[in-house]
Amino acid sequence: NWTMARFLDQEIARIRDLVGPEGQVLGAVSGGVDSTVAAKLMKEAIGDRFWAVLVNNGVMRLDECEQVERDLKQHLGINLTVIDASKDFLEGLKGLHDPEQKRKFIGGKFIDVFEAEAQKIEEAAAKSGKGTKIGFFLQGTLYPDVIESLSFKGPSATIKTHHNVGGLPERMTNGQGLQLIEPLRSLYKDEVRELGRTLGIHEELVMRHPFPGPGIAVRILGEVTEEKVRIARQADHIFISEIRKAGLYDQISQAYAAVDPSRAVGVMGDKRVYGYIIILRAVTTTDFMTAEAFNFPWDFLQRVMNRIVNEVNGVCRVTYDITSKPPGTIELE
Ligand code: XMP
Repeated sequence: NWTMARFLDQEIARIRDLVGPEGQVLGAVSGGVDSTVAAKLMKEAIGDRFWAVLVNNGVMRLDECEQVERDLKQHLGINLTVIDASKDFLEGLKGLHDPEQKRKFIGGKFIDVFEAEAQKIEEAAAKSGKGTKIGFFLQGTLYPDVIESLSFKGPSATIKTHHNVGGLPERMTNGQGLQLIEPLRSLYKDEVRELGRTLGIHEELVMRHPFPGPGIAVRILGEVTEEKVRIARQADHIFISEIRKAGLYDQISQAYAAVDPSRAVGVMGDKRVYGYIIILRAVTTTDFMTAEAFNFPWDFLQRVMNRIVNEVNGVCRVTYDITSKPPGTIELE
């Protein structure tokens, strides 16, 4: 009968067989559950012949890049290269207001940065004495992603372009002749979490909320600027910390703070201020196709509002988005 431990053993054996004693594998990681579990599985199967790459796109959450680096290198022992391309991304986002244009830019830039790095890793891998050159590309595709791409145009594919489920594998596999490895393609999200636990990944990482590839760029309405990135990061950090402190994190499917670029008037001390509006969003969902706003206790929202207006410079209002999906979406863009 099927158990997660047996699935893990079989997958490890299958990967070793496929990759061979000399083969090397490349993969992008984001710090999300899927790519982390897939990477740890590869680490168990072939050790440092798996090369993970994390691209800092400048729109990750507060201290997230450093956190992911610690988790993957120190906690999980994964052979990870971090590329800081944040300046290039933020530069390129200037003047872009349309959500789909922002997604397209981030997706395209990600591919460029990743491919340039892949080239360097290929060279390093060839010289490393760890084996022959890179012949495989790891992708943390889940069963629902497989279904969605089979079903012609899934609703989210037509409504928003999800860059992390398109583009990259196509270019790496057809363009660079790498063979695709998708060890999670028969699993649902909760099974991936279970596999993560079986692999010894710590609970906080296994239970992380999903985070979109375009990051907080789709949580800053309209044009992304460095100031708005700072505001979104600080407000989000306060919101998520308070959610954790209140013990609510695992009851919520996804939560974040967004920045509304229109500004409102307020008073602070005895001064009139003119600042940005923060929109808090927290939803519960089973499949991310429909969702409900989370029903927070009133005093929780008041506490978060107080902290954000007091601690985040440039903000004078905090709102909570109660829209369900549909008609809303989980992200604001
Ligand atoms: P929506 O906003 O469509 O979000 O209700 C559904 C789920 O998809 C995530 N999402 C994205 N993920 N790239 C991603 O990798 C994207 O462009 C993107 N847009 C939305 C969203 O965070 C939620 O989990």
